[in-house]
Amino acid sequence: MNTKLQEKDLRVISEQTLAHYQSRAHAFWEGTKDHDVTQNYQAFLEALPQRKGLSILDLGCGPGRDLKYFKNLGHHAIGLDGCPDFCQMARSYSSCEVWQQDFLKLDLPRQFFDGIFANASLFHVPSQELTRVLRELHQSLKENGILFSSNPRGDFEGWNGQRYGTYLELVEYQNFLKRSGFSLVHNYYRPQGKPCHEQPWLAVVAKKCSGPKPL
Ligand SMILES: C[S@@+](CC[C@H](N)C(=O)[O-])C[C@H]1O[C@@H](n2cnc3c(N)ncnc32)[C@H](O)[C@@H]1O
Repeated sequence: MNTKLQEKDLRVISEQTLAHYQSRAHAFWEGTKDHDVTQNYQAFLEALPQRKGLSILDLGCGPGRDLKYFKNLGHHAIGLDGCPDFCQMARSYSSCEVWQQDFLKLDLPRQFFDGIFANASLFHVPSQELTRVLRELHQSLKENGILFSSNPRGDFEGWNGQRYGTYLELVEYQNFLKRSGFSLVHNYYRPQGKPCHEQPWLAVVAKKCSGPKPL
């Protein structure tokens, strides 16, 4: 994306993308509630301290499948999503606290979370805003906190139907993480067991390692 996005463009990006999810919230739940996310749960949890009661943010929690999973393990899981119906669905499915917030206007507590789980959500942040958003996540993590993210990969940014997306390959995504004060712990492509060209998802475990580099 070469042209600088203005404030109003960013507003449209969030509003239209969220409107897409809002208009099909129940169909989305039916289509994704049984997705096997085990590999992502494991990668995230293995990087965290091995105890119960961790403070976990599910960023872009959708209708709450993963929130409930973390809660059932004995963690203190909080959801965050910009889609009003997803927030309601996630609250009632998981009985967890869920914050309705836009990724582009986050208001997060500092040094609060042990881990942030961002499954199929951060790619909705325009690249122009990605370092800022990652830095806000960095600030909300405790020292050595873990950020897990899984995103569709590629070399494209823009509208994909009614949803805006930023599709990055590992090297480029890693640069964003580094600039934001994260170091790479582990990465893999999904789905498991397929040749690389049939693995459209890039999963990354990153650790809060230092203060972000000055812009
Ligand atoms: C592909 S869904 C993934 C949902 C869930 N994490 C999962 O794995 O099923 C992307 C999520 O990001 C949320 N989202 C997209 N853009 C957003 C924005 N600007 N602010 C807050 N949430 C947003 C959507 O509402 C949706 O829940």
